[in-house]
Amino acid sequence: MLQHPAPAITAPTEVRIKTIEVGICGTDREICSFAYGTPPERSDYLVLGHEALGRVVEVGPRVTGLRVGDLVVPTVRRPCPHGHCVSCRDGRQDFCFTGDFTERGIKMVHGYMTEFFVEDEAHLNVVPAGLRDIAVLVEPLTVAEKALTQLWQVQSRLNWSDGSGPTPGAGKTAVVLGAGPVGILGAMALLVRGFRVFVYSRSTDPNPKSDLVNSIGARYVSSDKVGLADFADLTGPIDMVYEAVGVAKIAFDVMKILRLNGVFIFTGIPAEQPAIPVEADTLMRQVVLKNQAIIGTVNADRDAFQNAIRDLSEFQKRWPAAIRNVISGRHPMENYRELLLGKQTGIKQVITIGQ
Ligand code: BGC
Ligand code: ZN
Repeated sequence: MLQHPAPAITAPTEVRIKTIEVGICGTDREICSFAYGTPPERSDYLVLGHEALGRVVEVGPRVTGLRVGDLVVPTVRRPCPHGHCVSCRDGRQDFCFTGDFTERGIKMVHGYMTEFFVEDEAHLNVVPAGLRDIAVLVEPLTVAEKALTQLWQVQSRLNWSDGSGPTPGAGKTAVVLGAGPVGILGAMALLVRGFRVFVYSRSTDPNPKSDLVNSIGARYVSSDKVGLADFADLTGPIDMVYEAVGVAKIAFDVMKILRLNGVFIFTGIPAEQPAIPVEADTLMRQVVLKNQAIIGTVNADRDAFQNAIRDLSEFQKRWPAAIRNVISGRHPMENYRELLLGKQTGIKQVITIGQ
């Protein structure tokens, strides 16, 4: 295996972290098939790993918010260097205007799949000790957290909430596309906010994912068994769709059954595929006549990480078994080949690196 040099603190606000574990996702698998990702300049390799949990082992002299022993989850995106990029200068590199942002473990900066990593305190989030066993899920959960923040902002264009309950999603129906980790964590976040949640995904049920989804009070529906028209009958009017499947066909199909004033949020990043037919005129007509909003979102800002940490505690209270079961397996580093290049199994697979 590659010997990557051990990192050291070089700036007073930096922190040295011992990696505990790293989650594997579709992005990592795509990087390993060269469909995605970019190594650092003048490097012929990229250290993977963007979903990490670690423990602080050393702090620079000007670190104020972290102490040795703290559990931390790092963010992924780093700002572009351009003075005119208002978003990056604001600490909102998730809305970078230039495209010259970097992402640890994905785009031009090495990731966290190492024994130690060094990061500026500004990019680290403290996690309560009680979340030790599930905190590796914070990063994938930020996808849903940012999506939800966007949803409320978009819907502030009208009086969306019907006031039928104490939570903002009360009385509303949400559809989650896909039952991978981003979909399941998104379903949990939507349930916490009071939505009625359907998860529409291919695999024929019952299966472990459908069991998990149904156990938390969402309803799993297999798109292989239940076609679009029958699905629409089951759900009734759909107020929002949270796409977490990365497949265009099913996404554009479900877009057809979105309700008036509805919001469709894309989070999946499909690889390039041959063109497929979509009913473009029908959709365009509907988007206009139904005041629909279709938005994309990529993660994530600091608030999304903070919200994810808060929500994970809530998930742990409500569904202790289900949230643990989102992590399908913990593996030693030696299993990397199977995890990254073999057939995808389970929900979230994790590589254990340290304590
Ligand atoms: C990561 C995000 C990243 C996105 C695009 C996802 O897998 O979780 O942090 O922004 O890929 O590169
Ligand atoms: Zn990921």
